[in-house]
Amino acid sequence: MIETDVPAVFEIEKRAFPKGSWTIDAFYHEVLHNEHAHYFVMTLDDMVIGYLGMWIVIDQAQITTVAVSETVRGMGYGALLLEYVMNYARLTCEMMSLEVRIENIAARGLYEKFGFTYGGVRRDYYGPGEDAKVMWVKLR
Ligand SMILES: CC(C)(COP(=O)(O)OP(=O)(O)OC[C@H]1O[C@@H](n2cnc3c(N)ncnc32)[C@H](O)[C@@H]1OP(=O)(O)O)[C@@H](O)C(=O)NCCC(=O)NCCS
Repeated sequence: MIETDVPAVFEIEKRAFPKGSWTIDAFYHEVLHNEHAHYFVMTLDDMVIGYLGMWIVIDQAQITTVAVSETVRGMGYGALLLEYVMNYARLTCEMMSLEVRIENIAARGLYEKFGFTYGGVRRDYYGPGEDAKVMWVKLR
């Protein structure tokens, strides 16, 4: 992901997370200023159809955000994107983790497909009464 991808990414983000999306400035900050950030877009016919962000600190990778455009969900693009990013992280990282809403069946299914297991709950992570499950996978 580069600076000029951010408006298209933000359009997907707003629809993917209606309960509370990141701001567009948060994406610009990640792409332009965060030295730990590794962000990727997936394109189809030159259109951004998905994105995934990750922080890498020493040998730990943490997925910060991922979404696929609602127009092309369920077609394998999320799996392709995650597989690519896991292979990228595997070059330097031992493990990868992320947080997911307990009720997000599609995302949990995607992560389970790639071997992520449950590592605990972060209470009120998304706001009062909205817990996150922590999931993680060993990369090598
Ligand atoms: C989660 C998300 C990225 C998946 O992307 P996708 O391109 O639709 O996923 P894929 O078609 O590659 O499916 C990969 C796997 O995810 C799981 N999955 C995807 N959609 C699912 C659904 N509706 N119900 C249950 N499992 C689902 C399945 O395990 C699937 O593997 P399978 O096809 O072998 O069964 C997409 O649903 C999305 O953008 N959701 C909104 C944003 C979001 O919730 N992000 C995650 C935040 S933690």
